[in-house]
Amino acid sequence: MAKKDIIILGIESSCDDTSAAIIKNEAILSNEVAGQKVHELYGGVVPELASRAHQQNILPVVDAAIKKAKINLKDIDAIAFTSGPGLLGSLIVGTSFAKALALGLDIPMVEVNHMHGHVLAHFIDDEGKDKPNFPFLCLTISGGHTQIVLVKSHLEMEIIGTTRDDAAGEAFDKSAKLLGLPYPGGPLIDNNAKLGNPDAFKFTHPQIPDFDYSFSGLKTNVLQFLQRNTKHNTDFIQENMNDICASLQKTIVDILFDKLTKAAKQLNIKEIAIAGGVSANSGIREKLRSEGKKKGWITHIPKFEYTTDNAAMIAIAGRYQFLANNFVDQSVSANARLDF
Ligand code: KG4
Ligand code: ZN
Repeated sequence: MAKKDIIILGIESSCDDTSAAIIKNEAILSNEVAGQKVHELYGGVVPELASRAHQQNILPVVDAAIKKAKINLKDIDAIAFTSGPGLLGSLIVGTSFAKALALGLDIPMVEVNHMHGHVLAHFIDDEGKDKPNFPFLCLTISGGHTQIVLVKSHLEMEIIGTTRDDAAGEAFDKSAKLLGLPYPGGPLIDNNAKLGNPDAFKFTHPQIPDFDYSFSGLKTNVLQFLQRNTKHNTDFIQENMNDICASLQKTIVDILFDKLTKAAKQLNIKEIAIAGGVSANSGIREKLRSEGKKKGWITHIPKFEYTTDNAAMIAIAGRYQFLANNFVDQSVSANARLDF
């Protein structure tokens, strides 16, 4: 008898993107994302506003994902949702919705750790792209996390390096704010950097042991650099925007790859992936390609739509929980500090 297809609805609402996706086995049929523009006004995500926007978005987003996938509600075998980590008020919306829908449809639920989702996005079917072999290292870089993950299987992962303060995304976004750029500034720094000289200015590299990171010193360094240079020339930022962005981006990329390269060498692993919102950065993607060539690594760079928060990654991660029979019942709750 042919093996039955498994169709899973994935739901993601951990921060400021409401997303729903349908996956059939390892192929994505739809991946709808509703962003939240409201936070731009405040220079960062406002938790209460995020939660309210999720409440408004979740039903239309799930509905759109089902329609786009051309399936019916009754075709769904299970619901996968992000239970953490993230903003509690945001997580509660997705978790409650998943629980209610699973109850109504009488189908099982699986919970997904948001950070596992970022890593496992590499297992989504993508023509012409090979999936990673175990074990591999994944540099997961987002607005809230910076992790070097040793991935041993779809279900077994270990963080071997992490940030002691700010995440890589915060290093981009906070520096961007100092430059007067709107939130989130990461993509804007990336765009400006393409037109600038990465060697124009020098910023600090932290000295942190092991495979850990620290980005808070860089933020202070950027602030002092700007104060020093704008003192006698108020147009300094405008006149040098592209060079500042290019130099900053190079610094962040170098900091990230110093530790990644060290980990790869020490663990003797030659299969390397990047994931998370910051892995959309052109400098980081290019660096992985060039380092990979130099060091003989097999590299994995995610499709753009699977870098920033999305439910496709939650659906694929949910598939492996489903296959392992790791179901949760109605007593499950959102957990802002869910363990890795
Ligand atoms: O994974 P994600 O969507 O959300 C979290 O889980 O945090 O990551 C969002 C982060 C933000 O800090 C944003 O500025 C950053 O990803 N980001 C970028 C780029 N695109 C998104 N940072 C640098 N360059 C980019 N092209
Ligand atoms: Zn994320």
